[in-house]
Amino acid sequence: MPALRVPRREAEPVKRRLKRLNLYDGKRRPKREGDFVLLPVVEDERIHSLGYEVLSLELPLRPERQIYRNLESVLAERLTPEELKHIRRYDVIGDIAVVQIPPELEGRTAEIVWGLRKVHPFIKVVAKKGFHEGAFRIREYSIVWGEKRLETVHRENGVGVKVDLSKAFFNPRMKGERYRLAQLVKDGERILIPFAGVLPYALVIARYKKVRITAVELNKEAYELGLENIELNRKRLRGEIEFIYGDVFKVLPELPTYDRVISPTPKGIDALALTLNKAERWLHYYDFVGEDKIVDLRRRITGECALQGKDCEVRVKKVSEFKPHVFKVCADVRILG
Ligand SMILES: C[S@@+](CC[C@H](N)C(=O)[O-])C[C@H]1O[C@@H](n2cnc3c(N)ncnc32)[C@H](O)[C@@H]1O
Repeated sequence: MPALRVPRREAEPVKRRLKRLNLYDGKRRPKREGDFVLLPVVEDERIHSLGYEVLSLELPLRPERQIYRNLESVLAERLTPEELKHIRRYDVIGDIAVVQIPPELEGRTAEIVWGLRKVHPFIKVVAKKGFHEGAFRIREYSIVWGEKRLETVHRENGVGVKVDLSKAFFNPRMKGERYRLAQLVKDGERILIPFAGVLPYALVIARYKKVRITAVELNKEAYELGLENIELNRKRLRGEIEFIYGDVFKVLPELPTYDRVISPTPKGIDALALTLNKAERWLHYYDFVGEDKIVDLRRRITGECALQGKDCEVRVKKVSEFKPHVFKVCADVRILG
C-alpha cells in the first residue's frame, strides 16, 4: 500500500491537505522514520504529483474502533437521505461534541447523539450551539446529552487548552492558523497578542518557539483560564508568556512596540490603527469581510500604513467561511521600513 515520505515538520499540514483531497488512508497508522513521517495514502494518480516520495509498504492497520467514519455514513442507518442533507459540520472540543441542530432535525436529536457517540466513543457531553454574543464572543449552548458541563481540556498542536465554553471564546477550527503562525515566527521574537482569550495562539507559538509573548484579554474568566493554561503547559513551552488583564484599547498605548503583533480581532471591533502602531515587522490582523470587500480591506491597511509612515506589503488570505460570501480573513502585513 502507498505511503508518502514527508519531513516531520511538514507532516501535520500535509496530512490535513491529504484529508481535504480525500487521499489520506485513515485505516492505517502513520509511522515515524527519523526526521520523516510516512503518511498512509490511498491508491490514486494524484499522490505522485504532490512533490513527495511515494513508497510502497505495509503500514499497520488501526484497530476497528479508531477507523475514521464520518457522521453522515453512520447516521445513514437511522436518518433518511433528505434528513442527512441537513447534517451540519460539528466540532469536538476536548470531550465535548458541539453540534448545530437545524429546525429540520429538531426531532432527531437522539439519533444525532447516537451517531456522534459512535464516531467519537470518548465524548462525555453533546452540546447544541447557538450564536456568539457580545464583545467577549461567548456562545449560547444547551447540553443535549451527557454530563452537565461545558469545561474541558482540548488538545491541539502539542498543547492542552483548558476551556469553558460557557465563559470564554474558543474556536478549534483555528488550529491550522495557529500552526501556520507558529511556523512563521522565529526564535528570539517579541510578540504581542491582543484579544488573547484563553491563550491558544500564545501557547502554540510558545510551544514551538523560544519567544517572549505579551498577551492581553478583558474577559476575567478567559484571563483566569489562560493563567491556568500557562501552568498546565509550563513544561512544554519553549517561550515565555506574560498575560495582562485589561482593555486592549487602554493597555496597548502603554506598551512598547513588538517584532510581531497577532490580532484575533473580535467581530465588529476596529483595532487596525492601534495594532499596526505596535508592530515593528509583522502584523497579522484578523477581520470579517464580504468576498467583494477583501480589496477594500487591503486598501484600508495600505492607507493606514501610509498614515503611520510605514512601508508595507499586504497579503489577505481567507481563513474560513463565516457565512455565505462572508469570510474570516487574515491580513499578513509585512513592514519593510
Ligand atoms: C475572537 S475572540 C479570540 C480569542 C482568542 N484569541 C482565540 O482565538 O481563542 C476575541 C477575544 O477578545 C476579547 N476582547 C474583546 N474586547 C476586548 C478588549 N477591548 N480588550 C481585551 N480583550 C477583548 C474577548 O473576550 C475574546 O476573548
